Parts: sequence; structure tokens; C-alpha cells
Amino acid sequence: MKKILITGASGFLGSVLLRKAAETWETTALHFAHAAQNPAHSRLLRADLTSGPDVEALFKNFRPDVIIHTAAQTQVDVCEADPSACRLLNVEATKFLAEKAQKIGSRFIYISTDLVFDGKKGNYSEEDPVNPLSHYARTKAAAERVVLETCLNAVVLRIAILYGKSPLHRYSFSEWLRQSWEKKQPTPLFADQFRTPIWVENLVNALLELASSEFRGILHLGGSQRIDRYSFGKILANILGVSDDLLIRKSMFDPNPSAQRPQDVSLNISLAKSILTTPLLTVEEGLRLAYRRQ
Ligand SMILES: NC(=O)c1ccc[n+]([C@@H]2O[C@H](COP(=O)([O-])OP(=O)(O)OC[C@H]3O[C@@H](n4cnc5c(N)ncnc54)[C@H](OP(=O)(O)O)[C@@H]3O)[C@@H](O)[C@H]2O)c1
Repeated sequence: MKKILITGASGFLGSVLLRKAAETWETTALHFAHAAQNPAHSRLLRADLTSGPDVEALFKNFRPDVIIHTAAQTQVDVCEADPSACRLLNVEATKFLAEKAQKIGSRFIYISTDLVFDGKKGNYSEEDPVNPLSHYARTKAAAERVVLETCLNAVVLRIAILYGKSPLHRYSFSEWLRQSWEKKQPTPLFADQFRTPIWVENLVNALLELASSEFRGILHLGGSQRIDRYSFGKILANILGVSDDLLIRKSMFDPNPSAQRPQDVSLNISLAKSILTTPLLTVEEGLRLAYRRQ
């Protein structure tokens, strides 16, 4: 059985990835401040990726075939408030891991984001230049460069916004909506901000296929549909069979004091479709599968 190392196993993506990877890989998974699940055939370790000694200890006598690095400071407003802590985890810790991967000959898959683009164009392909608007996105773009410069067998996987359920009940976009509506809380959503959302289970299947492939370089992975947040909410409300009265239509040009968000970071996923056999679903298809028991 091939060995895989997953960072961020207590996070939204990492928790779903760990559960699926443990079915076919000898899995080692890392968490830090929060608990993570520990499925059969997996080894769960606690490590601070910003600590040199923690990372050194991890790789002592351990050579994973593949490392999937999902851990990051992902909250855009937290990154604005504490840019140096954000950079330490998102860039420096990534550099350290990529160096380790190169040294021990592991394949390294770095999870990046559609937010590396400024959103002025939309339908971004892998060749389009990045122009991050927030500190979070700048650290992700910086880490992309470091990974590609450091590790030969590396993939920079730019993913779109995720939706679906997590075994750890971490909030995703769809879960935030569902739980807000359960509590009768209104959900203001931009009708003029576009992404290509992907169901987390769909992404994980594509990611594990990619882990076993020979592809190297930058790859875009999102769902098959460009959509605004308000329309996404409408589809979810319809699938859940709940009223859409709590959906509040907003514009991103309304006054907003938080970090700048790009308008259209939809991803062109033609390359992913040409190299992967995993079908990349539309929002309607993904949401129906994610919420079919409700
Ligand atoms: N979610 C999305 O819609 C989305 C969209 C585009 C790109 N991405 C990218 O996808 C990746 C996963 O996102 P996510 O939403 O799953 O993230 P998340 O739920 O916020 O989880 C972040 C993970 O990073 C870990 N972490 C934080 N500080 C750490 C440290 N010092 N040492 C070790 N681990 C640490 C956390 O562990 P503890 O909680 O245990 O500390 C947690 O497991 C990220 O790289 C993100 O940039 C996500």
C-alpha cells in the first residue's frame, strides 16, 4: 500500500480527504489545535507546521509517496488582522514541507485557491497571471511560487469554493446557509460575485486520482458551473425544500469594510477534465448528492 501524508486533517477539506484516502492508502494525517478523526489504517499525529522541530520529527524515518498539503490559515479577515502569522503558516511552513518533499522524493500536492486572481476576467486558465487582492490570497500565491521552485514532483492545485458536509461539522458555504436557515437567520448573499463551486466529495475523488497520476504543475479544479452566491442559495433552498425567504440579495458593491474580494474568479477546468476521469459536477448535481438524505 502506498503512503500518503495529509496536513490539515482537522479542517474541512482535510477531514473529508482523510476519510476517503484511508480506504486505499496507508495514511498519516496531521492536526494541530482541533481534534480530527482517526479512521482504520490511518495514523493521526499532532504537529505545529510552523515549528521546525515538529516537522523534523515527523519526517524522521518516514517517507510518504505523496504529501497533500491542505493546512493553512484560511480566514481572509484573520490574515488581514495578523499578516505575519498568516505568512508564517501559509508560506514559510509550506516552503519547509516542499523542501522535505524534494529531499525525500515525495510527490507534493499544494492546495491553493481561485482567490489568487483579481476577478476582473473570470474563466481563468492555468496560464493566466495571478493578481491577489487580499493578504490571504497573496500568501497563497507566494506559496505557489515557492512550491514550484522547490519541488520537482509538485502540483499546485487551485481549487474553487467548497460545499458539502464534513465529518467534523466544520462550516462550508452550504452548511453555513443550511444551519442559518434552521435557526431562522437571514443570509445576505452577493448576486454579482461568481465562482465555480465544487462539492468537497467530488474534489476529494479528483484529488486522490491526481495523487496517483504523473501530472506536474498548476491545475485548476472546480465544479462545472459558474454561479453567483445568491443563485447557489436558491438552488440549495429548493433541494432542501425550505423557503428562500431568508435569502437576502446583495451586491458586492454595497459598503463593505472587510477584506477586498474579487468579483469573478470562476475557473476554467478544461485541463482537469482532459487529464482526470472523475466527472466534475454542476452545482445542482453536487448539491443533490450532498443533501439527498434531507
Ligand atoms: N474551503 C474552501 O472553500 C477553500 C476554497 C479554496 C481553497 N481552499 C484551500 O483549501 C485548503 C483547505 O481549506 P479548509 O477550508 O479545509 O481549511 P480549514 O477548515 O480552515 O482547516 C485549516 C487546517 O489547517 C490546520 N492548521 C492551522 N494552523 C496549523 C498549524 N500551525 N500547524 C498545523 N496545522 C495547522 C488546521 O488544524 P487545527 O484546526 O487542528 O489547528 C486545520 O486542519 C486551504 O489551503 C485553503 O486555502 C479552501
